[in-house]
Amino acid sequence: MEIFDLIVIGGGPGGYLAAERAGHAGLKTMVIEKRAFGGVCLNEGCVPSKTFLNSAKVFDYANHAKAYGVTVEGKTAVDQKFVVERKNGVVKMLVSGVKGQLKRNKVTMKETEGYIEGKNDEGYIIKAGEEKFIAKRLIVATGSMPVVPPIPGLRENLETGVVLTNREVLDLTEIPEKFVVIGGGVIGLEMASYFSSVGSKVTVVEMLNKIAGPTENEISSILQKSLEKKGVEFKLGCKVTAVEKDGVVYEKDGKSEKVAADKILCSIGRRAVTQGIGLENIGVNMERGAIITDDMMRTNVANVYAVGDVNGKIMLAHTAYREAEVAVNNIVGKKDRMRYNVIPSVIYTNPEVASVGETEESAKAKGIDVKGVSIPLTFSGRYIAENTDLNGICKLVVNKKTNTLIGAHIIGSYAGEFIVAVSAMVDLEVDIENIKKLVFPHPTVCEIVREAIFQI
Ligand code: NAI
Repeated sequence: MEIFDLIVIGGGPGGYLAAERAGHAGLKTMVIEKRAFGGVCLNEGCVPSKTFLNSAKVFDYANHAKAYGVTVEGKTAVDQKFVVERKNGVVKMLVSGVKGQLKRNKVTMKETEGYIEGKNDEGYIIKAGEEKFIAKRLIVATGSMPVVPPIPGLRENLETGVVLTNREVLDLTEIPEKFVVIGGGVIGLEMASYFSSVGSKVTVVEMLNKIAGPTENEISSILQKSLEKKGVEFKLGCKVTAVEKDGVVYEKDGKSEKVAADKILCSIGRRAVTQGIGLENIGVNMERGAIITDDMMRTNVANVYAVGDVNGKIMLAHTAYREAEVAVNNIVGKKDRMRYNVIPSVIYTNPEVASVGETEESAKAKGIDVKGVSIPLTFSGRYIAENTDLNGICKLVVNKKTNTLIGAHIIGSYAGEFIVAVSAMVDLEVDIENIKKLVFPHPTVCEIVREAIFQI
């Protein structure tokens, strides 16, 4: 059996980046992917959903063109078939880019199913389809899949195509008249934003009393109002009890109600993929279905690491990227650790939401003495110049004792693009007085951070 320094199972963001970095560092590396390189992120998640959302943005602009002094003749319409074709083109380009990078870094690619058969004196025995190899080290990066709970009718209607997950929704070539979303989390809100922009009557049924669960409360409420203005209806505090071929049944204050639907999106979370890959053959420890890892991405088994959604920590592609690098750095002898408190998150709705670190509430719950500041995005000239809805805000959270930023929460244009600047300030624990000396380009929306800093 051919021996590899490292075998990676799973070719999504965690897996392909780990393989790429390991190949670059000179390790003899193999990556095994059973479906498509790029994983959920590139093929049916992060990137393809952004092609949809960009079409919605263009649609919204066309609808509001008059407000910018531009006349658009006729009725704005979306060619959903074209949107899907364009999405497929974007996916194809990125997937071939990933393969190209792996090739350049001399990584062996196997497009088949990977399985951990056991261990011998030389390393772990890994099956790639019909072939067998030895891995001196192993990285498990098998990702996650949508949670499909045992709600009556849900599975049956998934089979008939009435219910969709993030995978099928991105292949929808017709705009449903009535689109119901189960779960007002990130996937649900992004798709609600898209389909409401392009003409569906959208209803979101959410169990909690707020949307976008972990998002800062005021920002979550502004997002809800913005989406309501676009026509999205929210059924909050409503638990789905049954799914039928023409609608969703939910319980509100002990009463059963039904909302009619042509298509239903099930977006109530994801779970780690840990079954059927032979983890039990080498004794990898798990908790609630996810692989347990430490901050160096090690599992309980020597030389076996787990990165990305499969460890169930923070299911975001950029977390997986960093975890992949941490794992590979530790493999090549460079000490590296994950810091989960500075991972930014973005919701690509229109308006978009971006945040990093603590909210005032979460900081106080941890006993940190904080000061919060909140300013409207209208403090930014570019924001006013480019928008008609001027409801964006920027909230910063400062640790009074250390005089450093520990959190930022923004809703409004470009927030997802400039949150990284604030993440850096949080991560590097830059003193507020030093942030005041940084020069921000003018006019930009990110100047809002500078403005907010001076309000502290
Ligand atoms: P989520 O965990 O973000 O939201 C699920 C929502 O469903 C929660 O608000 C929950 O209260 C609700 N829910 C659960 N059971 C319910 C029921 N029976 N009836 C009504 N509501 C119910 O999960 P989502 O949106 O499926 O996303 C999955 C993962 O993908 C997340 O980890 C997310 O971070 C990631 N993702 C990230 C994106 C981004 O960063 N922009 C984009 C898309 C996905």
